[in-house]
Amino acid sequence: EHGLHSAAYPWPHEGMFDSYDHASIRRGHQVYQQVCAACHSLNLVAYRNLVGVCYTEDEVKAMAEEIEVTDGPDDTGEMFDRPGKLSDRLPAPYANEEGARYANNGAYPPDLSLITKARHDGQNYVFSLLLGYREPPAGVSVREGLHYNPYFPGGAIAMPKMLVDGGVEYDDGTPATETQMAKDVTTFLAWAAEPEADDRKLMGAKFMFALSLVAVQAVYYKRWMWSPIK
Ligand code: HEM
Repeated sequence: EHGLHSAAYPWPHEGMFDSYDHASIRRGHQVYQQVCAACHSLNLVAYRNLVGVCYTEDEVKAMAEEIEVTDGPDDTGEMFDRPGKLSDRLPAPYANEEGARYANNGAYPPDLSLITKARHDGQNYVFSLLLGYREPPAGVSVREGLHYNPYFPGGAIAMPKMLVDGGVEYDDGTPATETQMAKDVTTFLAWAAEPEADDRKLMGAKFMFALSLVAVQAVYYKRWMWSPIK
C-alpha cells in the first residue's frame, strides 16, 4: 500500500556519468545534523566517511570532537567518556527503539542510512514527503498526534512537518528555503545509502573506454588475420 505517488525529479546524480553534487551533500548534512538528527539515527555513517566527500579532515575532526562518546573499559575496568574521533559513528538520538518510541508517542523514527533504498521510489518519496504536509482535505480527519501527508502510506504520519524556510543555517550562505533543504537532505541521504556510486560510475566509464580500445584492436586483428584468404 503506497501513498500518493511522487513526481520524478531530475536528480543531478542520476545518470550513468553523473557524480553527486557534493556541495549539496554538505548542505544536506547540515540539515540532517540541525534537524533530523534529533530523532533519526544514521547508523551506517561514521565521521570519517564525510572526509573528502563534503568536508576536509580538519573540519570533520572538529565536528567529531564536539560529541562525547562512552568508551572502555580502560585498564581499571572502568568505562569513560572521551571526545568523538573520526572512526566514531554519527551519534544516535536514542539508546534503543523503546526510547525512540517513548519520545515519539509510540511512533518509531527509522534509521535513515538506507531510507532512499528501502522505500519505493526512495529519493522522490523522501523529497515529496518532506514537502508534502497539507491541511487535510474536506471530509478527511486525522487522528490526534498524526499529521496529514498524502505521500505517506495511509496518509497520516507521526512526524510533524520539519522543514520551514530559514530552519537551518548553511555555512555556504545558500538561502535555506524549504525546497532547498528538502533537496539537499535527500541528496545527502542518497549518498549515505550509496556512498560508492561516484567511484562505481568512474570505474565503469574507465572500463568502457578500455573495452572500446580492445574492440578496435580485435577488429583490426581479425581483418589482418583473414586478409590473405580473400
Ligand atoms: C518518519 C525523514 C526529522 C520523527 C520519517 C520518514 C522519513 C523521515 C523519510 C518516513 C519513513 C517511512 O517511510 O517509514 C526525516 C528527515 C528529517 C526528519 C529527512 C529532517 C529533515 C524528524 C524529526 C523527528 C522525526 C526531527 C522528531 C521530532 C519521525 C517519526 C517518524 C518519522 C516519529 C515515523 C512516522 C510514522 O511512522 O508515522 N522521517 N525526518 N523526524 N520521522 Fe522523520
